[in-house]
Amino acid sequence: MSLRDLPKLELHLHLEGAAPPSLIRGMAKEKSVDISRVFCEDGSYDFRDFVHFLSVYEAATSVLKSPEDYARLMTAVLEESASHGVIYTEFFVSPDFCGGSDVTAWREYLHAMEEAATRAEAQLGIASRGIVTCIRHFGPDKAKPTALCAAETAGGWITGFGMGGDESVGHQGDYAYSFDMAREAGLRLTTHAGEWGGPTSVREALDDLKVERLGHGVQVIQDLALVDRLIEEDIVLGVYPKWDRHPIQALRERGVKVTVSTDDPPFFHTTMTREYEQLARVFGWRASDFHEISQTALDAAFCDADTKARLADKLKDHPQ
Ligand code: HPA
Ligand code: ZN
Repeated sequence: MSLRDLPKLELHLHLEGAAPPSLIRGMAKEKSVDISRVFCEDGSYDFRDFVHFLSVYEAATSVLKSPEDYARLMTAVLEESASHGVIYTEFFVSPDFCGGSDVTAWREYLHAMEEAATRAEAQLGIASRGIVTCIRHFGPDKAKPTALCAAETAGGWITGFGMGGDESVGHQGDYAYSFDMAREAGLRLTTHAGEWGGPTSVREALDDLKVERLGHGVQVIQDLALVDRLIEEDIVLGVYPKWDRHPIQALRERGVKVTVSTDDPPFFHTTMTREYEQLARVFGWRASDFHEISQTALDAAFCDADTKARLADKLKDHPQ
């Protein structure tokens, strides 16, 4: 079994967070923008801790200034993902970075991204959807125009609404207005919770935002009653595994639905193939385990039934 060739579904990938450093460096050069502090000597992204990561992320993203830049980014990321066997990706996309959450500008950025995604699907067979994402540390007032961008473009490639950023800022419920607006527009909901925040952050995400998927969620392991609630309410976790004593296996054995993603792959020096290799090495996962998480991801994906049926065929075609 080649882990690289196994068909994979990825539900948690930040578009800018997947930007190859070489692409960002090249664009900075073209535009004569100095972002040298973003990189280490070996050319990879350089950050000390999570809050610094968010600031380096925003500095790297600052070179992406037009719809065409985002189309180039989308193409590069989908090519890389397809080369790791990914057949379906859900991107976190951010109107805040794409025209400052102005609906007219956002439509232009989105159009360019969608065109690139459609081309990649035709050429490489990788399907994708977008989850419009507000950024928690920008505050609840900034989230409202972002949610309006989401609501105005809901229905095609945009199928979800979510929140990323610094989980230690405020409460999940501070963003309820924006999540309500997105829900009323028919969007599916997710948020980052239980990555840096503990069980309280996860409880607030379920109670106050009424999301159906959690990004990360791994800190729930501290609270088994909450773990049981995730099982009862069929909440799916998108996990970026860090390897030492990672709770993914314990959560899965208890019955929580888990999926695997790379989040911001070049920042964390990973790929979907590498995640699969680690799961095989650390927990002894085999083809049947990988098939199970792909099926979980397929069930939890924010896409239509026809797309799911096509993806299910691709999973079925692959020998176990
Ligand atoms: N976590 C939270 N917010 C983010 C991330 C992440 O990994 N990447 C980009 N925004
Ligand atoms: Zn994330």
